Amino acid sequence: MQAIRKVLVIDDEPSIRESLEMFLTEKGLSVAAAATGKEGLALWRSYEPKVIILDIRLPDSSGLDILREITSRDTDVKVIMITAHHDMESTIEAMRRGAYDYIHKPLDVDELDHAVAMAQHIAAASESNAALVCKDPGPDPRHYIVGNTPSMRSIFKTIGLLSRNRATVLIEGETGTGKDLIARVIHESSGLQDQPYVTVDCTTLVDTLLESELFGHERGAFTGAVESKKGRLELAGRGTIFFDEVGDLPGPLQAKLLRFLEYREFTRVGGTQTYRSQARIIAATNRNLVDLTRKGRFREDLLFRLKVISLHVPPLRERIEDLPEMVQVFLAEINRELQTKVTRVEKEAMNRLRSYTWPGNVRELKNVLTKAVMESRGSVLLADAVKDSLTEIGTELPLNKGLRTLDEVEKEHILQSVFQADGNLSAAARALGLSRPTLRKRLKQYGYYGV
Ligand SMILES: Nc1ncnc2c1ncn2[C@@H]1O[C@H](COP(=O)(O)OP(=O)(O)OP(=O)(O)O)[C@@H](O)[C@H]1O
Ligand SMILES: [Mg+2]
Repeated sequence: MQAIRKVLVIDDEPSIRESLEMFLTEKGLSVAAAATGKEGLALWRSYEPKVIILDIRLPDSSGLDILREITSRDTDVKVIMITAHHDMESTIEAMRRGAYDYIHKPLDVDELDHAVAMAQHIAAASESNAALVCKDPGPDPRHYIVGNTPSMRSIFKTIGLLSRNRATVLIEGETGTGKDLIARVIHESSGLQDQPYVTVDCTTLVDTLLESELFGHERGAFTGAVESKKGRLELAGRGTIFFDEVGDLPGPLQAKLLRFLEYREFTRVGGTQTYRSQARIIAATNRNLVDLTRKGRFREDLLFRLKVISLHVPPLRERIEDLPEMVQVFLAEINRELQTKVTRVEKEAMNRLRSYTWPGNVRELKNVLTKAVMESRGSVLLADAVKDSLTEIGTELPLNKGLRTLDEVEKEHILQSVFQADGNLSAAARALGLSRPTLRKRLKQYGYYGV
């Protein structure tokens, strides 16, 4: 008998044991049954089942203790608890202690069937086609840029060159591509990493506060200025000042920033002393600055001042070869944060991740993986969990969290149909009532170029 088909039932009620045995045997599974916790543990050791159905109340011990004993020694075994409807607290406790699922008494055949089938599927996935072991980037994963494609290698090279000078850098790229991270790494590898790293979020700056925020102010400079205060430029010292989302800087502030960039000198608001800044300046944006310049919304002279060295971070869909390594590194990070143990990835899960367009780039990948890890409830990242996480997050537009537009709903429906048809376009087109060429055209519009 294949280990995967072995189920152990632990319940003191003879009628439940008998009906479960009958039901599971009919499904082609091999069943062993125990009436007490002690007997159950002995059978678990000798019979080595992959799925256990365990009553939460046993005559000689608590099902929760048995659960803990089992899951602490074997993380791959799936334990389905049998609980009573009114037993919410122990149900929650059971899930917390690593139960795979729970079913209520009186037992519902469909519910039981589903739970056992899923538990088996997961147990099977842990045995077979799941490749990829976790890769731990080391003690400080926050500042580790994953990537090995030519575009990323060229970014690493530039970061290396930047460590020898103090040139101003402009980092461009879509949202979530790693601009913040890259700015951080430029600072860390500058040789002045013990100097401050100061961020200015240009989206939140308002005209009136900017000067004081950036340059500081003297006491009594304006109403409310009860004490003198250093601005961000002064705080940055010889370190780095990072202007995030610089494309969102309002017009009048662009002029002030330009003036500072030209002379590198500033005075506190209401003050007379001139300070000279030695900080390295890095700016980032997810907007197309050349386009904004053409439209007259961003000063061309400021763009040139910022763009002494320019880094373009490509979207994730253009460096999808980097995805497997990212998955490895992020899984290790997520496991550490959530205290989970997902160390392998189902082949199909990886395929799904690879064929998605990632509008939210690396940030979205991290979110999807986190959700999928929580849903997988085992040591293997499951394709189904990835699929669920993808459709939920991928269709959510950050700017429009309320009602979704018709286009978004249509896109989700089309992608869902393609997934359901396992990528078979003819079948998906038939189900959708579209011609195959029309479906392909739509998929291309959504960024699926390989279809
Ligand atoms: N190449 C990478 N390797 C490892 N982690 C990455 C990489 N790129 C991005 N990340 C991670 O993805 C998340 C989003 O990255 P980051 O905040 O740097 O993006 P961003 O380009 O600044 O986005 P936005 O335009 O929305 O501000 C962060 O948690 C970051 O650490
Ligand atoms: Mg950012």
